[in-house]
Amino acid sequence: MTAIPTETLVTVFGGSGFVGRHVVRALAKRGYRIRVAVRRPDLAFHLQPAGRVGQIHAVQANLRHPGSVDAAVRDADAVVNLVGILFERGRQRFDAVQAFGAEACALSAAAHDARLVHVSAIGADEQSPSHYARSKAMGEKLVRAAVPGATILRPSIMFGPEDSFFNRFAAIARLAPALPLVGGGQTRFQPVFVGDVAASVVAAIEGRATLGATYELGGPAVRSFKELMQYLLATIERRRLLLPVPFGLAKLQAFFLQYMPTPLLTPDQVELLRVDNVVSEEAKRERRTLEGLGITPTLMEAIVPSYLQRFRKTGQFRVRSI
Ligand SMILES: NC(=O)c1ccc[n+]([C@@H]2O[C@H](COP(=O)([O-])OP(=O)(O)OC[C@H]3O[C@@H](n4cnc5c(N)ncnc54)[C@H](OP(=O)(O)O)[C@@H]3O)[C@@H](O)[C@H]2O)c1
Repeated sequence: MTAIPTETLVTVFGGSGFVGRHVVRALAKRGYRIRVAVRRPDLAFHLQPAGRVGQIHAVQANLRHPGSVDAAVRDADAVVNLVGILFERGRQRFDAVQAFGAEACALSAAAHDARLVHVSAIGADEQSPSHYARSKAMGEKLVRAAVPGATILRPSIMFGPEDSFFNRFAAIARLAPALPLVGGGQTRFQPVFVGDVAASVVAAIEGRATLGATYELGGPAVRSFKELMQYLLATIERRRLLLPVPFGLAKLQAFFLQYMPTPLLTPDQVELLRVDNVVSEEAKRERRTLEGLGITPTLMEAIVPSYLQRFRKTGQFRVRSI
């Protein structure tokens, strides 16, 4: 796209979420006009300071209702789909949101001749025992069928000030004497900075990604879950037991935990933890990575302490004695 940002309208589905706020901020900085399509526009006011007056506009849309999706895409030059769910509730089912919702988005982008950036996840796999991963794979397939030139971005786990990974485990560590290591904590991750993912979205919108390619986005380091927990505990200066929990037992616990309003763990997530969540060798070879988009991955150590220090016993004010 050679269009001038100030004359380019980008519709962002899921703009109110964790990744959404960073994508909206990155687009606003470049001068784009942004239409944030969310289920509850009244809950998206926090995005307004990211842009100039009138630059960011929230509209109502639900990926499960194709009519609302189409209305949100009308007149847009580009569409970004960041909608995803980690557990099912009511009508929010994996297939409805991550497969058919993604398709609705792609069909509207095709109908309105808009460029499409679709955010999926590393681990998307039609054969996976995890329903989340299968629905992500089905979503990718339906998106490709509707818009062959779409850019699909598959991030590993993301970190950033509002992430639900480090913040969640740090909050647990503040209260609990131990942190669980599902399957011994051997699952490998490649944590990627949410700001780098947002920069990838901008790169794809601006035509710096290979048309029709699927990118795998990982940070500079691969770490096991156990290593991530050790890093977390060192950062928040707390000693906690790291308790290995076999997959079978974790699944049993998850069976009960899944009924919490925001589940700590679901049986489907236990299945996800059986497989490493890292950038594939094939993607690296073909440069379908952050580096391939001209982005240098940000170190976890450069960002995470800045927002985890609030979990230290005395926050940021004590001079460290160790
Ligand atoms: N966070 C990670 O570490 C990570 C890792 C890999 C991949 N991803 C993927 O990255 C994308 C963004 O993730 P995130 O962490 O930003 O998630 P998030 O914070 O939960 O945000 C998800 C967004 O989707 C919206 N949404 C949910 N159901 C919807 C529906 N039916 N119609 C319209 N909007 C709906 C939510 O808005 P409301 O619910 O308020 O309407 C919210 O704005 C997702 O596709 C996710 O699978 C995330």
